[in-house]
Amino acid sequence: VNTHQLQTPALVVDAGGLQHNLDTMAAALPGGRLRPHVKAHKTTALARRQVAAGHRTFTCATICEVEGMAAAGLGDDLLLANEVVDATRLGRVVATGARVTLAVDSEATIDAARDGGVHEVLIDVNVGLPRCGCAPEDAGRLAEMANAKGLSVRGVMGYEGHIVGLPDREQRAHLVEGCMQLLLQAHQAVGGELVSAGGTGTYDLNTWAGEIQAGSYVLMDTAYAQLGLPFVNALTVLATVISVNPAGWAVADCGLKALGMDHGNPRMADGAPVWFCSDEHITFAPTEGSPGYRVGDRVAVVPAHVDPTIAYHQTMHVVDGDAVLESWAVDLRGW
Ligand SMILES: Cc1ncc(COP(=O)(O)O)c(C=O)c1O
Repeated sequence: VNTHQLQTPALVVDAGGLQHNLDTMAAALPGGRLRPHVKAHKTTALARRQVAAGHRTFTCATICEVEGMAAAGLGDDLLLANEVVDATRLGRVVATGARVTLAVDSEATIDAARDGGVHEVLIDVNVGLPRCGCAPEDAGRLAEMANAKGLSVRGVMGYEGHIVGLPDREQRAHLVEGCMQLLLQAHQAVGGELVSAGGTGTYDLNTWAGEIQAGSYVLMDTAYAQLGLPFVNALTVLATVISVNPAGWAVADCGLKALGMDHGNPRMADGAPVWFCSDEHITFAPTEGSPGYRVGDRVAVVPAHVDPTIAYHQTMHVVDGDAVLESWAVDLRGW
């Protein structure tokens, strides 16, 4: 199959870029030092490539991701790094023999783990991102409570999500240290073998966590590209030019329903300035001096945010130039 035969908009992954990112990360954080976050790609076939790169433990954001990873035989050690109030479906996954660890930050979520049949938990600690996680000084009490209710506490997690995207490396380095002091303080009270944290933007700066939960590194996006990390942009959305206006702009069939837009407009791979996206359209202008576009031309759009972009698509095509090497189902979508 050739990329010209793909129906657009189509999610396209450059095979060489993907391999570069897998290799680069596996060299920096080998084996269990990385717990790849599958929410970035939602694709068991890609998770298998991460296994081939040496990683056997995974981070998930949804129950559906845990179920899909376990069903695909990738359930050696799955962390649901998120709170749930009904863990029944997770208990069913545990009953199949997969290892599932659930983040908890309250009595209600501890009860949910116990009642649902999940036996292992991690105390989720708030290290500054206004999202889930208990206060660091409350972590010991929650761990005791979980133990008293018959759960095994594997340690702590604390995601520094407010830091990972800061463009200034020194600032990231400085701030991540403060976050991890809080997490280590909580770990002292909780105990256990796991201190789990970090993302793509702090993968090499967060030297306090025992394992890093990076996900975006494997495909990247324009937001993370600004950080000067050693990972390359391997993901584009292939689109078709459907209209060319003589006044100087062109329109392709890749709108905000095919792109995660919360980090801003995407970039055209050829450098053409993007004017705006609407539901099913992207409007852009040719760069000065370029021959312009014709209806039917294929163009590549680089998303600003990898995770929500992928969640819009059912299939991911792995390509080498114009050749489609493999087509993978984005099979961990939904909740
Ligand atoms: C709990 C958690 N850990 C880790 C990450 C890291 O992801 P990324 O690789 O995109 O920085 C995220 C992303 O939002 C997250 O929610």
